Amino acid sequence: MADKSVGPMSVCAYTVDAMESAIEAIDLVKRFGDTLDNPAVDGVSFAVPPGTVLGLLGPNGAGKTTTVRMMTTLTEPTSGTARVAGYDVRAQPDDVRRHMGLTGQVATVDELLTGRENIRMIGGLYGIRRKDLDRLGDQLLHQFSLTDAADRVVRSYSGGMRRRLDLAVSLLASPPVLFLDEPTTGLDPRSRSELWDVLRGLVAQGTTLLLTTQYLEEADQLADNIVVIDRGHIIAEGSPLELKQQAGRASLVVTVGDAADLEGARTLLGQTGAEVFVDAGARRLTASADGLDDMIRVAEWLRDSGIAVDDIGLSRPSLDDVFLTLTGHRTEDSEEIGA
Ligand SMILES: Nc1ncnc2c1ncn2[C@@H]1O[C@H](COP(=O)(O)OP(=O)(O)OP(=O)(O)O)[C@@H](O)[C@H]1O
Ligand SMILES: [Mg+2]
Repeated sequence: MADKSVGPMSVCAYTVDAMESAIEAIDLVKRFGDTLDNPAVDGVSFAVPPGTVLGLLGPNGAGKTTTVRMMTTLTEPTSGTARVAGYDVRAQPDDVRRHMGLTGQVATVDELLTGRENIRMIGGLYGIRRKDLDRLGDQLLHQFSLTDAADRVVRSYSGGMRRRLDLAVSLLASPPVLFLDEPTTGLDPRSRSELWDVLRGLVAQGTTLLLTTQYLEEADQLADNIVVIDRGHIIAEGSPLELKQQAGRASLVVTVGDAADLEGARTLLGQTGAEVFVDAGARRLTASADGLDDMIRVAEWLRDSGIAVDDIGLSRPSLDDVFLTLTGHRTEDSEEIGA
């Protein structure tokens, strides 16, 4: 998906490298304390083409934050390295910092300052001129629906407002590469989908995004590619669709109008050769299917037999199913994960 039309810049090999992968993890390992412990991150490698979104997905304690911290120069890798916008996190940490933005898992804005003051303070640290900073600040406050709250102290903000301010602040330097550690954790569904829209807008303008999430739906909505980690290891990667296909075949789901037809419908569905599961209470039958052809065949049989159908559809495994297949536990099962 990399933009090959880089023009005259492509004469510089360094730039071409940077264009191929905006973010690259190269065998990253992080071991905390005792060597007896399993490393928190254990040989993680991946590459993110410019202008795309990588979703780093995994349950609590999988190593997502540690990976992001190594890639953003906040903690040194035990071994391996990472490149951000073409710069090496070990050899060129200052260059890495100049080309990236980070929104951590915990909001870092100053509680005692107003939203606008936070922006002025951080923008000042970046060395943005006051006049430019005020214009940019207004624009970001507007973009994140914080204009009305701009002059209130952050302490009075809701969780969603804080996260939006945090993100606005991390965009002050217009970094080409942005790392977001669980950007929507704790947000209500509406704030979450508003934030997704903002993120889509940034990516449309060419920003490369790495976001960690425990929400499979979030990865599904935003990510071009997904890397699933569990206990420090990559256990799967691919596009959302590829991962769903890995989890198995689609299912054909039929709801009959009258429970008396369940048995007849079961026989019909069974003619595809698939095992049929019946949920009598819901008047629903489920069977694995090969796609649209199976659905059309079954729909015709049902019509010809005169069985009234309330609903018929094909459902692909969700990313939740994928996660269950890969890790043996659902993302929410954080209690059991440590067990
Ligand atoms: N500073 C530290 N010292 C010791 N162990 C740590 C430290 N930071 C993280 N760990 C351990 O490393 C592992 C990975 O933690 P990490 O915070 O990277 O997970 P995560 O995927 O971000 O989880 P969550 O979804 O809960 O944010 C965990 O077992 C954690 O306890
Ligand atoms: Mg984390």
